[in-house]
Amino acid sequence: MAVLRIDRIRAAAARELKGATTSAELEAVRVKYLGRQGEITQLLRSLASLPAAERPEVGRQANELKAEIEAAVSERLVAARAEERRRQLEAARLDLTLPGRRPPLGTLHPLTQVNDEIVAIFMRLGFSVAEGPEVESDYNNFEALNIPRDHPARDMQDTFYLSEDTLLRTHTSPAQIRTMKAQRPPVRIICPGKVYRRDAPDVTHSPMFHQVEGLAVDRTISMGDLKGTLELFAREMFGERSRIRFRPSFFPFTEPSAEVDVLCFNCGGTGCRFCAQSGWLEILGCGMVHPQVLRNVGYDPEEVTGWAFGMGVERIAMLKYGVDDIRLFFENDLRFLEQFA
Ligand code: PHE
Repeated sequence: MAVLRIDRIRAAAARELKGATTSAELEAVRVKYLGRQGEITQLLRSLASLPAAERPEVGRQANELKAEIEAAVSERLVAARAEERRRQLEAARLDLTLPGRRPPLGTLHPLTQVNDEIVAIFMRLGFSVAEGPEVESDYNNFEALNIPRDHPARDMQDTFYLSEDTLLRTHTSPAQIRTMKAQRPPVRIICPGKVYRRDAPDVTHSPMFHQVEGLAVDRTISMGDLKGTLELFAREMFGERSRIRFRPSFFPFTEPSAEVDVLCFNCGGTGCRFCAQSGWLEILGCGMVHPQVLRNVGYDPEEVTGWAFGMGVERIAMLKYGVDDIRLFFENDLRFLEQFA
């Protein structure tokens, strides 16, 4: 009887093994026959209740079947596991030649780039960089620069006053005063930095913007040196074919004074909406340092002369890149900034 049962189990196990392909299915077959509640396990456990004469033969056959199934499952498992591993690797295939994912890299703000470019041009000409504070005294920002008490530039409307006699500098020109008070001629410096004016923001105005001040003082400095220096600057900044012109102007701290225009980048001089049909765009103010300013810092105007200029970094960046609204520089919209990567 029991031997018949063994044959039945063998046939069933063989059938089930045939149908099992995955490692999980094979494991299920193993459990079904060899597990703690498995059919063969139970059969072996029930040997004791068999007639003594049958026991050895049934025991032998049951153990044989147990070994058979064990061997068959193990063999099939090795193959199934290998196949499963192969499929898994296939599915998760890595292309080692793919470039890695680069972390996004920031770039310098266009104003920083233009500022650095301006600074680099003057460094090549032998200028050194001076820096002054954004919170300035009324004296350095106005008084020492020969801007009288009743000058419109000192109006509360134009200047952010912090107290009676401290303010946010309205231009980088106080750096002239600080530098000349601190050193004797020859002086050749530029001073880049932020300046502040009480202007409502619009396409050409921002309450904070950037300037680069330039100052050269020595025994024989002339207006010709100023022209030559700025012509060279314009060629480096705007290209070999750029042209500049000097227009007479007025600043209390320079005499004579001039404003410098560069040929319109858009129309090349024929006149367009960018240059208000004039063909020229203003980039800076400049002039020979006023004798009174030299005296204010303890220099002797009979002995030394100098020139100075102040240029707007935003203005130059706008001209160089054809940006038509100064506010774009301060909105930090990546779609704008990424164009200067
Ligand atoms: N400080 C002047 C301005 O902000 C520019 C300037 C600088 C003019 C130096 C002449 C000399 O408008």
